[in-house]
Parts: sequence; C-alpha cells; structure tokens
Amino acid sequence: MTDIAHLKTELSAEITAANDLKSLDDIRVTVLGKKGRITALMKTLGKMDPEERKTTGQALNVLKDEIADLIKSQERALKKQEMDARLTTEVADITLDTRPAPKGSIHPISQTIEELVSIFGAMGFQVAEGPDIEDDWHNFTALNFPPGHPAREMQDTFFLPTDPEESDPERAKKLLRTHTSSVQIRHMVETMKTSTPPIKTICFGRTYRSDFDMTHTPMFHQMECLYVDKGVTMAHLKGCLTDFVRAFFKLDDLPVRFRPSFFPFVEPGAEVDIGYTKDAKGGIKLGAAKDPADQKWMEILGSGMVHPNVLKNCGIDPDEYQGFAFGMGIERATMLKYGIPDLRTFFESDVRWLEHYGFDPLKRPNSAQR
Ligand code: PHE
Repeated sequence: MTDIAHLKTELSAEITAANDLKSLDDIRVTVLGKKGRITALMKTLGKMDPEERKTTGQALNVLKDEIADLIKSQERALKKQEMDARLTTEVADITLDTRPAPKGSIHPISQTIEELVSIFGAMGFQVAEGPDIEDDWHNFTALNFPPGHPAREMQDTFFLPTDPEESDPERAKKLLRTHTSSVQIRHMVETMKTSTPPIKTICFGRTYRSDFDMTHTPMFHQMECLYVDKGVTMAHLKGCLTDFVRAFFKLDDLPVRFRPSFFPFVEPGAEVDIGYTKDAKGGIKLGAAKDPADQKWMEILGSGMVHPNVLKNCGIDPDEYQGFAFGMGIERATMLKYGIPDLRTFFESDVRWLEHYGFDPLKRPNSAQR
C-alpha cells in the first residue's frame, strides 16, 4: 500500500511538472501504456493470494483512475496556457477588406419589363400571364385568323406534336405561341367566367417564330396591352400609346404617328411609328426634327381596336363593349432605348456583354433609392 501511495506522489509530481503536451503524453505512455508502470503492477496481481489481490487490485484501480484524471486536467491546463499565449501574442488584423462578393447585373430585358410594369401599373393595368405552349385555337382561331387563311403564314410557327387526349382538333394542335395576343384570349375567357369588363391588363412573355438574322431571333419577348370596357375608342388607344412611348423613352415631345395596318384580330388596325433624326455620322436620335424635312420614322409596335369577332369568341358582346390592344417587341424597345446594336447578343450569355449593358441591381431607376 505504501508503495502505491509513494508511486502516486511520484507520478503526480511528474505530471504537474510536465510543461508541454508532448512530454505529458510521454508520461501517459510510460504509466498507463501497454508496458506502463501501472499496467506492469496490474500484471503482478495474478501471483498474489486472494486477500492481497483484492485490496491491491482495488488500490491499483483507484490509482489508475486518479492518474488518468490528473493527466486530463494537466492537458486542459496546458491547452489553455497555449491559447492564452496565442491570444496575447497574435493580433487579428480587422482592418483588412472583406473579400469582394461577386455581384450580378440585371439583364436589359428584365430592366425594360420592370420599367413597363411601372408605367402601365401607374395607368391602372394589371399583369396577366399565359403559357408559352399554346394551341391553334388560342394563338390563331380565337384571334380571327380564318382556317387556311394566308394571315396564318404572317408568323412562321413552330408546331409541336398533336395532343392525343384532346378531342377538339384546334385545341389538340399544339405550338409555341407566335405572339402574346393569345394571352388576351385566355384572359378575356377567364374573366367572363366570373365577371364582366372592364379588363385592363398587360402581359409579358417569350414568343417564338422560325426566323434568325440581325433583327430576328427564334425566341424573343413581347409585351401585350389590352383594355376592354364600355365606350372605348381609338382616341383612348392613341392617348394611352402616346403617353406610354413618351414615358418609356423619357422624351416629352417624342413624335408619334399612327399608320393604318392589318392584323386579323383588330379593326381598324394601326402600326405605331416614333420619330427620329439621323446625325452626321448616321446615328439615330429619337425625337422631333427641327426641320420637318429631316423627320424620320420607325415602326415600334402593332395596335388596333379589338375585332368584334375576337370579343364574341371570348363571350363578350361587341355591341356592349369595345376594346383596344397593342403588342410590342421588348428587345426592339430595349435596343432603341439603350443603344444596343445587335439583337442576337441578348441571348449569347456573354458575361462581358452583361457587365456592359446590364443594370446594377442596387441602382434601379424605379426603386426608391434613386
Ligand atoms: N400580335 C401582333 C404581333 O405579334 C401585335 C399586335 C398586338 C397588333 C395587338 C395589334 C394588336 O405582331
């Protein structure tokens, strides 16, 4: 017993004298390891008589636990010492800049859509949506394109496999919508199920035509505006369109011209031109020319009074209600407003292009933090 007490004093002194983690671990191995001193004493138990084995065994187990605890607490003390030393000697440089966070930019199409929502929102229009995959009825028939009429070829269509579940052949014939005018139809039909006009909506979305050159891509975006109410006239269309283009291009005196045109779904129909002049280098400048002889015009959208057949197809009585509609290519408006020369670059996903033409998300012209 006294041997054990002696050993305990000796080992305790060694452990508390250890001043780094390495020497502490060496002590642990020489005491508690496979060939350690306490382990060796344990092995002598076998040769003892039972009474002695019992008392010595118990004492050795207690010693082993005490020494193990002591090593643990010395280890904690050493680690704390080490940390305290680091905390007093090492200094964190909190003046360093944070790493730059990558920041994207807003695509010009999204920017323009947002500006259009602001303008038409202020005029009391609501945003409507419709599917990109349409059927022949919504894209053509309901919009007064007669079957087999050459008007259907005005827009080169991507047709999709026929839907075998659909019994009505015009609804079974699937296609990628060629214009957002199909959303007019969906919206009017839907409204008439539960209420009546006034209907005042705008719609934005992807449209598809089989076409590809400097000024045409197979997928592009359109905006569609529809207003149906009692007593709507061409004067309302002209007023609304003139206010809109002047607000969009931020030019109070932007000349606007209405030119008769044909679309099956309107009567009368008009194309809308805006005025510009050419500078000495041939560059385009939107606005009124000082000398009327220099005034040039470019077409920016199609419009007209909703055809009575279209209203009828949607369950609206054309003797009671009238409406106007117009549709505009969003890319074209964006190119004109922001001086982007080639339509195809919109969809090439070139990050350098986006850095140049994109908009800073934190500096949006329509946000409160102007
Ligand atoms: N849907 C026509 C087009 O894609 C545009 C338009 C819309 C014309 C509404 C008149 C009225 O060209």
